[in-house]
Amino acid sequence: MRHLLSTRDLDRASAIRLLDVAEDMAETADRAVRTLPALRDKTVVNLFFEDSTRTRLSFEAAAKRLSANVITFSAKGSSVSKGESLKDTAQTLLAMGADAIVVRHHDSGAAHRLANAGWIDAAIINAGDGTHEHPTQALLDAFTMRQRRFGSEARGRGLDGLRIVIVGDILHSRVARSNVWLLHLLGAEVHLVAPRTLLPTGVATWPVTVHEHLDDALALEPDAVMMLRIQTERMRDAYFPNPREYGREWGLTHERFARLGPDTMVMHPGPMNRGLEISSSAADSSGSTVLAQVTNGVFIRMAVLYLLVAGADAAISAPGNAAS
Ligand code: CP
Repeated sequence: MRHLLSTRDLDRASAIRLLDVAEDMAETADRAVRTLPALRDKTVVNLFFEDSTRTRLSFEAAAKRLSANVITFSAKGSSVSKGESLKDTAQTLLAMGADAIVVRHHDSGAAHRLANAGWIDAAIINAGDGTHEHPTQALLDAFTMRQRRFGSEARGRGLDGLRIVIVGDILHSRVARSNVWLLHLLGAEVHLVAPRTLLPTGVATWPVTVHEHLDDALALEPDAVMMLRIQTERMRDAYFPNPREYGREWGLTHERFARLGPDTMVMHPGPMNRGLEISSSAADSSGSTVLAQVTNGVFIRMAVLYLLVAGADAAISAPGNAAS
């Protein structure tokens, strides 16, 4: 694997390998010496054209735990405002010695363009491109589900037999797209719930079952319910019900949450619109994985950087290799 652009590019074995390496990374976090030498003398550039809290900070934390040099670029305050192109920006960063570029961009396809245009020779990791994909989010979601469901027996497994319900603004959600491909690849049964106006036209070709009513999907007793953020900033050409109607029909309200089984995971990629797609009682409950997803995001991003930049042969967990 040279780049990570889409979960569609993964096969089952490589997806499970990624999750297993993330398990190794999680184990190292429990040790007194938490920094590994795998990316010493490598440089990871975070190239963010769009706002982010979780993804940017966890890639930074992941790269630092692997001993990489980290350069963080935010389009705000840069020469992008003077019209500098993606190509020139990326080549400038490459000239500073980038071995990997983690890119978030408002345009779908920007990460593919960087990886395939022949402008630069560095590993490209898609940290969210427009409404297209967010592969490391899907990987950390799958990791979280696998760990919650199988615990110490998680290693080597997919998500066969799990029933996952994804709810909300599917139309604009790169998280939903990456999750649909990955969860299906790992053997899960995937259900989508959304108002018709917030479904993409091609959804009939996806490996999912679509529901209009949330209560129908929750009656299937899912293993996990993933609530998506309503992306008001992208709501240019889609009809959006008024917030009160949306919350009543498609929100994980306190009443709906109270009807879920005791082991049902309540997931959200963040940032959350509390009181709209998810109630605080659900978000802050013991079944909520919202903060575990953030923690696991560091382990997944360590695994991705390790596999792409260090190469699969580098040692990651032998105590003798730990940096001081
Ligand atoms: N889940 C996610 O991508 O969050 P950020 O936008 O804060 O990175």
